[in-house]
Amino acid sequence: MNKLKRRKFLNILLTSSVAGGLGLWRNRAFAQAPDHAAHSGTQGDASDAFVNPLRLPGDRGLFGILTPSSSLGFTAKPILHQVLPGRKTWLWAYEVKQDGKTYLNPIIRVRRGSTFHAALRNALSEETIIHWHGMHVDDKNDAHPGYAIPYGEQYAYAFPVINRAATYWYHPHPHHLTAGQTYAGLASLFIVEDEEELALQVALDLKLGKTDIPLIIQDRRFDKKGVLRYAPTEQEEFHGHLGDSILANLTPNPYLDVAPRIYRFRILNASNARVYRLAFMQGDKALDYHLIGNDGGLLERPHRIQEVFVAPAERVDLLLDLSKAKPGDTVFLKSLPFDPMHVETEPRTSGEDPHAGHGAMAGLPDGAGFDILKLNLKYKVRFNLNMPDRLSRITPIRTEGASTRTMMLDHLDMKWRINGWVFDMNATPVVTRRDTVEIWEVQNSKSSMPHPMHIHGFQFQMLERRNSPQQVGRLAVNAKGLIPSDLGWKDTVLVWPGETVRFAVDFTHSFPGEQVYMFHCHNLEHEDQGMMINYKIV
Ligand code: C2O
Ligand code: CU
Ligand code: CU
Repeated sequence: MNKLKRRKFLNILLTSSVAGGLGLWRNRAFAQAPDHAAHSGTQGDASDAFVNPLRLPGDRGLFGILTPSSSLGFTAKPILHQVLPGRKTWLWAYEVKQDGKTYLNPIIRVRRGSTFHAALRNALSEETIIHWHGMHVDDKNDAHPGYAIPYGEQYAYAFPVINRAATYWYHPHPHHLTAGQTYAGLASLFIVEDEEELALQVALDLKLGKTDIPLIIQDRRFDKKGVLRYAPTEQEEFHGHLGDSILANLTPNPYLDVAPRIYRFRILNASNARVYRLAFMQGDKALDYHLIGNDGGLLERPHRIQEVFVAPAERVDLLLDLSKAKPGDTVFLKSLPFDPMHVETEPRTSGEDPHAGHGAMAGLPDGAGFDILKLNLKYKVRFNLNMPDRLSRITPIRTEGASTRTMMLDHLDMKWRINGWVFDMNATPVVTRRDTVEIWEVQNSKSSMPHPMHIHGFQFQMLERRNSPQQVGRLAVNAKGLIPSDLGWKDTVLVWPGETVRFAVDFTHSFPGEQVYMFHCHNLEHEDQGMMINYKIV
């Protein structure tokens, strides 16, 4: 290590130990649960707590919108940022500079058909690597955890943007460290646009950061001093780590002033483990809104809904028509209560609530209802925009003659498994052939919890849900049990206890040689614990 390098290294250690930025992620000390009264939703004066302006992406800074003009240099590093009012918190973020502007966790915006060039420099105290979630790229660019780089090293990416227009995202993927690093702040959006998407933006007067609102939703836990700690207990590693502060674009208790018109919300659930059941509420009344897209882009047409489940890593693209709203009206984006179905452990004694054990661990239990974002109808200007009837065309994957592969999700000795496998970096238990279509049938055992299952490298099409719990089954829109957010193209699907989902994947690709990708649970504690497998395409 030369002198300059050593100097930098010491500086970083110093900054971190002084401010608690690094190393503390692994601290086992249990953070005291802050008061979460602000999330008790519609009762009392709770809504008055929503006084922080939602952080909107601008042309620089945190979540700034960045259209690459050449290769981007990402530095993963600790930053001091004000998340909670009146205090600064150490986070980890990706810093990128372009044309004299500095961005943190930039929202990358690229055109389909362009080539994306980037380099990651690791300025963290532990190894890391960036994964471009949802992107159809070769395994070097997909960044298998085996490619993770230590402090001070660089990793180069270059790939053609083949994907449909959609809201993808990027986050770390080093084995055993993904949960802590994502929790620390390393995550943002990767937006792909094409002609169809640009036409929609024109038709609905959508401007990213103004009327097209990216919402990165995360639950976090801060201690009394405002320090963000990641210290999962063994129980939390098993069930998933929940926070009691709900952040949208790293803003707690946010509000957004809106006009009476159509708004688009591109929502990413970037939480480690929490599932949201999203609704827009005006008082006690659930508003209709339209689901227009999900993980892999636009659906064929808008679907009118009143609620949608969004699991970790899933994206939903929503249109909310506020054109009939009056000045002074308020609308809340809320997560409605639901049964989190933690049936992974047998009830201890009869009469005892089987959820109590888990719920008691977090200040804001899994499945609880809470507000996320307050919309204040403020501006008077009225816009008349028409909801389009058609959005895109989805060509179904041809499944005639396709073979079915079964994946069974269960647990043994506090470890989640896929077909009995726990992640082994060097094992490829699933081998598939390029240019073939397969049907994957993912069965979640009865004694389980919901698992958001994600496949790298390819988007898939949902074919069927079987034995769905009632809270999911009642949302079905066809005889195959699919719900609106299952339509179109997906890369992550939530599989509930006892449920089976079937989806089609077309492994056609044009990357030279064999490719090794992963299939895993996107509950990040589960992923880090090894609920992940390699699959190889030969
Ligand atoms: Cu969002 Cu394996 O990743
Ligand atoms: Cu991914
Ligand atoms: Cu899981």
